[in-house]
Amino acid sequence: MPNTTKTTVLTTLSRLFLALAFLVCLPNCTQAEDEPLTVLVTGANRGLGLEHAKQWTAAGHKVIGTARKPAEAKELKATGAQVLQLDITSDDDIANLAKELKGQKIDVLINNAGYMNRGLNREALQRCFNINATGPLLLAKALQPNLKLSKHPKIVNISSGLGSIARTRGSYAAYSMSKAALNMATRQLHGQLAGDGFIVISLNPGHNKTDMGGAGAPLDPKDSVPQMLKLITGLKPDQSGKFWYINGSEVPW
Ligand SMILES: NC(=O)c1ccc[n+]([C@@H]2O[C@H](COP(=O)([O-])OP(=O)(O)OC[C@H]3O[C@@H](n4cnc5c(N)ncnc54)[C@H](OP(=O)(O)O)[C@@H]3O)[C@@H](O)[C@H]2O)c1
Repeated sequence: MPNTTKTTVLTTLSRLFLALAFLVCLPNCTQAEDEPLTVLVTGANRGLGLEHAKQWTAAGHKVIGTARKPAEAKELKATGAQVLQLDITSDDDIANLAKELKGQKIDVLINNAGYMNRGLNREALQRCFNINATGPLLLAKALQPNLKLSKHPKIVNISSGLGSIARTRGSYAAYSMSKAALNMATRQLHGQLAGDGFIVISLNPGHNKTDMGGAGAPLDPKDSVPQMLKLITGLKPDQSGKFWYINGSEVPW
């Protein structure tokens, strides 16, 4: 066989081999990207947290939903989520949760549990900080071993437009200050963990119809949570350490 014909046959064969290998590998590669995620949502028994549990499970992901009183979290249980007890102000609860989940991979931690107090006194300030900033940071610390088992670990701190120092108009001081502190926790965690492949963001969920947001709020969690799900699953490393609105626009600190 002449050399040119030999080369043509070899080239054609190697192309065929590559195409075959690609076709065999493709479904597996796609599967790896589409693998169901394990998502831990705090305060998942009502409001935005419950809607997260409903929509992440409906999308085929595994949800671990926490509630202060799991026995009363009937709607959360009905989603098929694993329900675990957590009061975010309790170090014992955080330690017990981490113990219960030891060795289990978590892909996304959604620090959603939150508390609003319109008062301006020491008790209101301390409770807002404890639930909205201290708790989420300590939980993120306790669950780091679980998140490190994920290929693409993400920490999503549910903040608020009221936590934006740039945009504040001087209302709801205790709540707003605690969410600004949560935003600092986001920057802290980003600084500590981005090098290990973590994506850490603050997310402003918008003003929603929940017990906290009130019946007159413009957004329905059924519409805002799908936007959050899309944003969270599509996060890229260069979005880490920043503050996002549900539609993907950046919020000024
Ligand atoms: N709704 C809005 O318009 C809006 C706007 C901006 C930001 N956000 C933020 O979005 C998140 C969800 O808000 P939401 O509107 O769904 O509020 P929500 O309806 O009042 O629900 C709050 C959730 O947080 C839980 N929680 C409160 N204190 C807790 C504690 N100490 N330990 C553990 N869980 C605790 C509640 O559990 P219990 O049932 O046991 O009380 C409940 O599951 C919050 O972080 C909130 O600040 C909401």
